[in-house]
Amino acid sequence: CGIIGIIGKNEVAPLLIEGLRRLEYRGYDSAGVATLVNGRIDRRRAEGKLVNLDRRVQEQPLSGTIGIGHTRWATHGGPTETNAHPHATRKVAVVHNGIIENYQDLKAELEGHDHLFETETDTEVIVHLVTYYLDRGLGPVEATAEALKRLEGAFSLALIFAGEHDLMIGARRGTPLAVGYGNGNGEMYLASDAFALAPLTNRLTYLEDGDWVVLNQGNVVVRNATGEQVERPIKLSAVSGAMIGKGEHRHFMLKEIYEQPQVIGDTLNAFVQATTGHITLPDLPFDLAAIPRVTVVACGTAFYAGMVAKYWLEQIARVPVELDIASEFRYREAPMPEGGLALFISQSGETLDTLEALRYAKRQKQHILSVINVAESTISRESDAVLSTLAGPEIGVASTKAFTTQLTVLACFAIAVARARGTITREQEAEMSTALREVPARAVDVLNHDERLRQLAHDVSEARDALYLGRGTSYPIALEGALKLKEISYIHAEGYAAGEMKHGPIALIDENVPIIALAPNDVLFEKTASNIMEAAARGGKVLLLSDAKGVERMGSKVTWTVTLPEVHAFVAPILYAIPMQLLAYHTAVIKGTDVDQPRNLAKSVTVE
Ligand code: G6P
Repeated sequence: CGIIGIIGKNEVAPLLIEGLRRLEYRGYDSAGVATLVNGRIDRRRAEGKLVNLDRRVQEQPLSGTIGIGHTRWATHGGPTETNAHPHATRKVAVVHNGIIENYQDLKAELEGHDHLFETETDTEVIVHLVTYYLDRGLGPVEATAEALKRLEGAFSLALIFAGEHDLMIGARRGTPLAVGYGNGNGEMYLASDAFALAPLTNRLTYLEDGDWVVLNQGNVVVRNATGEQVERPIKLSAVSGAMIGKGEHRHFMLKEIYEQPQVIGDTLNAFVQATTGHITLPDLPFDLAAIPRVTVVACGTAFYAGMVAKYWLEQIARVPVELDIASEFRYREAPMPEGGLALFISQSGETLDTLEALRYAKRQKQHILSVINVAESTISRESDAVLSTLAGPEIGVASTKAFTTQLTVLACFAIAVARARGTITREQEAEMSTALREVPARAVDVLNHDERLRQLAHDVSEARDALYLGRGTSYPIALEGALKLKEISYIHAEGYAAGEMKHGPIALIDENVPIIALAPNDVLFEKTASNIMEAAARGGKVLLLSDAKGVERMGSKVTWTVTLPEVHAFVAPILYAIPMQLLAYHTAVIKGTDVDQPRNLAKSVTVE
């Protein structure tokens, strides 16, 4: 969900809607704005995309110089107008991102005090709780302070109050919130990210966890979780409007594929020190050097990221790694060595099988580390430590940028474990860190092959089956490539370890089954080349993905080639994932399937 708030001297509704347009990438199930008109709270809300709210506001204009806005991506509670934010009582209105975990208890208590609830949302309890304290004579700031003490969960909020034209309160617990400073006009802003405010200001203060903030025109007071007044630095943000909605892209999936250079770069910035190139992890409550074994568990695409991590951790950090899909692992009753590390990977942080596997590992006394994209998720909260992928919201059901940022984080993690265990030299670390920092630029080079992959997709779209082959860290990428094709184009595809092909799938090969061969020029290249020859010799049509050297060596033996940039073998899986996404995407578009919402799938699976 996206949050924006503005206190100013001019009409705020158009600015709020413009801000929401820039936040729409965070969800588009419903949207709403609230302002104060002659001291009274007035709202406009609409189901569906922001255009509906925009139309509603044009039909029934909303005046006022202070207001809040919200764009929602429904998780719990349908995307109806009633469930849309802002939620309000006569005295206070709120926009909210995240989950109030104890809302049922609070709701029961407030209903006991004759508060009437209109929705099934957790959010509505916030305004009733604040109203409860206002009714008992507290001022808005004190009432909010009391309410905040009682809310449990991870969230961010923005509140406005009837009769208070120069007061807005924001709070951050878990999910991000930033304060923006108007350019000399006394305006003040709140927003869940810098993008929303990019046209208004680039001067921002990011609140820290537990902070809450009282805004008046030209004045900001930040307090921490214990109520002490604190100073937070003002930072200059460099964001532009590049990430608005689907932008010029036809589908979210394509937009998200194209965001990868940016979000991989953002993720690297969080783990790699700019000046030294040194990899740094957040403080972990366990010793990486002392871990007897790492157990990696995930579902779907995240599982394939985990599979790459297994290769990295074993090769670079020399630590034994066990890997399983969550739905199997949770019932396998696997014995786990005391003090072991259990690593969970999930975009949403809500996948039930992964969560239950985590709880099993906890009972087995493992340290729990997660790689998660949604910071306020359940898996994040139940983990001992979290390494965040900074992919931003991923809307397309088929995972793309979440996957490559997972790989980015896991690469940094593998280096950190290796350093702790003394299995790499400083020079090796520097070399891998340099290779990682080049990934965003090389990803741009890979995206330049979009048109070529679109042409090749015509051939793939005619197939009934496809085979993806790779060795080493290209093997999981072959599996991911096959999964992408299945998910969105509905063509049956199998990923196979290239060396295992001769033990079965080779029987499938004829001229109707395209073979997508991933062959970065690494130590396994010659082995993969032999497997490609075995396929070509049996009439198979091979699409070779390699760099210039590989294409020079093998190009004449295959039907199609795509020449990818030459990169350090360590980072090849991150970059080779991108043509897998583009090939699946264009194949699906040619076949006319629903790319962003393929049949039968869901973005986040919270059932077994
Ligand atoms: C669903 C999605 C997949 C995703 C998997 C795991 O099946 O369709 O794209 O990889 O869940 O989701 P998670 O949020 O845990 O990464």
